[in-house]
Amino acid sequence: MISPKLYRSSRTYDFFMKLLGYESSIDRFLRSLSFDLQAPRILDAGCGTGFLGLHFLARFPGSSLVATDLEPNFLEATLANAERRRIDRERIQVGIANISEPATLTSLDGESCTLPASTFDLICIGAVVGYASDTPSALRQLVDLLKPGGLLLNLEMNESPTGRLVSHRYHYANISLGQMRQVLGDAGCTVTTTKLGLRHLPAKFTRTAMLARKSAERR
Ligand SMILES: C[S@@+](CC[C@H](N)C(=O)[O-])C[C@H]1O[C@@H](n2cnc3c(N)ncnc32)[C@H](O)[C@@H]1O
Repeated sequence: MISPKLYRSSRTYDFFMKLLGYESSIDRFLRSLSFDLQAPRILDAGCGTGFLGLHFLARFPGSSLVATDLEPNFLEATLANAERRRIDRERIQVGIANISEPATLTSLDGESCTLPASTFDLICIGAVVGYASDTPSALRQLVDLLKPGGLLLNLEMNESPTGRLVSHRYHYANISLGQMRQVLGDAGCTVTTTKLGLRHLPAKFTRTAMLARKSAERR
């Protein structure tokens, strides 16, 4: 699916995510999770303004980030947010990519590349796989990109009335969370779901967290 018109302005998205306290509440939630990662290679697919990937980049010394989105203006917003957070530009690669084919990237200069399989320690995504033409396929391709033992963190739209309303507004047609767990399980992951708490309002209204660890054994 093409990106809805609603996403054409990364500035508006960035402004409201900050103003409404969404970004800081997601950041609080991420800080409550512990990860056993050393200098991880991170992918933030459908990065928006980059706050998921940039959180982990700032958190783990020696880490590096590949941030992708269908809309180049969001990649520029991600780089601007990185600069604001004084994160070294050298640690970030950005690329235009459709979540339907998450490994196929085009740089902002128009150069194409393919992300090799089994190369990421952590993939973070949020409210994006519902834009894929085939969501189960997109999830399986993301799992392929993980190293054995790697983690996929999905800050997914939840199934509460508010979550459904916002999904509808943003033309976000996702599979159910149960189906998503099944797809990830079938792809060789152990999946846990964590609801956001009251401390994570307002993000709690619309998001839930799904963490999938890829089997450490090669399949
Ligand atoms: C709801 S925002 C999510 C941003 C961020 N990941 C988060 O958790 O808040 C959706 C993002 O997905 C991007 N997007 C929409 N359709 C896409 C597609 N088919 N492939 C890749 N990115 C897409 C939009 O440009 C937007 O930046």
